[in-house]
Amino acid sequence: MSHTLSQTLGMQHPLIMAPMFLVSNEAMMKAAIRSGIAGTFPSLNFRKEGELPELLERLNGARSGASGTYGVNLIVQKTNPLYKKHLDACVAAAVPFYITSLGNPREVIDAAHSYGAKVLCDVTNLEHAAKAAQVGADGLIAVCAGAGGHAGPYPMHVLVPALKKEFPHMPVVAAGGIATGRQMASAMILGADAVSVGTRFIASTEASVSEEYKQAIVDHGMEDIVLTERLSGTPCNIINTPTAQKLGYKQSSFEKWLSRNPRTRKYFKMMVQMKGMKKLEKAVKPNHYTHLWSAGQSVEMVEDISGVETIVARLLEEYRQSVQSFVS
Ligand SMILES: Cc1cc2nc3c(=O)[nH]c(=O)nc-3n(C[C@H](O)[C@H](O)[C@H](O)COP(=O)(O)O)c2cc1C
Repeated sequence: MSHTLSQTLGMQHPLIMAPMFLVSNEAMMKAAIRSGIAGTFPSLNFRKEGELPELLERLNGARSGASGTYGVNLIVQKTNPLYKKHLDACVAAAVPFYITSLGNPREVIDAAHSYGAKVLCDVTNLEHAAKAAQVGADGLIAVCAGAGGHAGPYPMHVLVPALKKEFPHMPVVAAGGIATGRQMASAMILGADAVSVGTRFIASTEASVSEEYKQAIVDHGMEDIVLTERLSGTPCNIINTPTAQKLGYKQSSFEKWLSRNPRTRKYFKMMVQMKGMKKLEKAVKPNHYTHLWSAGQSVEMVEDISGVETIVARLLEEYRQSVQSFVS
């Protein structure tokens, strides 16, 4: 299989460790870089003054001579107050590549291309993909049904080939539901140029979340994952704990009206997102009674908490064996 996208992004293997709010951290990025894959993180995990530029400097150091790389996820919605500041810090540090989610990526693409960096845009349907392609995205991340965090409505076996058919020259990364090398191989056979894996890495020793959250990833199965609109306003997959049941799954018609009305839209969305972020932040702390844990349906396949490098090595070995068994 040709791995042109991997070469373009500067990683040895076609595997991206997906950006995860409150989960992704420096140790995970460094382990990914050492493993020859791409580690990515949401810039919003580094909100304290000066934290992001210092981290970027250390990650640039870790990259030198290594076979892996890193990328930064920017939430490009107007409701993200740190967006501009974080974009400036990333450009100053010459971040190798970006993942954009939830808004118009044009500004990030222009800034990245000014120094030769690449931009992959999260998309959940053909309409988002067409907009991203139009403003010059270098690749699309097909966020499929069952993904952890903000999931799309379409299964991978439909969305990935649909994107490849509609945008034949655009690299496509498959995201959502992948936690094993066999699943990774199936995404590549569908036409994906790489895969992005999130949920599997929550159950890693390095992840910045409580042991209870990590163990919940191991203990729960696919039937325990539910979509809720009540955390951020956008459908988000979480584990159906008693806290999740109390939170509920749907926005009321009044809340929907507030998030559509041009006068209230921005402020209402901002308020919902801030409240959701605060709830999630409490829930990742050890021994906290709030069990509000984002995860995708691939929890079904996660059977242990291991180091990032062990997880990557296992995924890649299974991937190799699966491809071999398919061609032989
Ligand atoms: C806990 C958690 C937090 C996430 N936070 C973000 C985020 O901040 N930005 C983003 O673009 N995607 C986020 N995602 C989505 C992932 O980047 C990725 O698309 C998804 O995890 C892939 O599906 P999988 O979990 O089934 O592997 C998050 C996912 C999880 C599980």
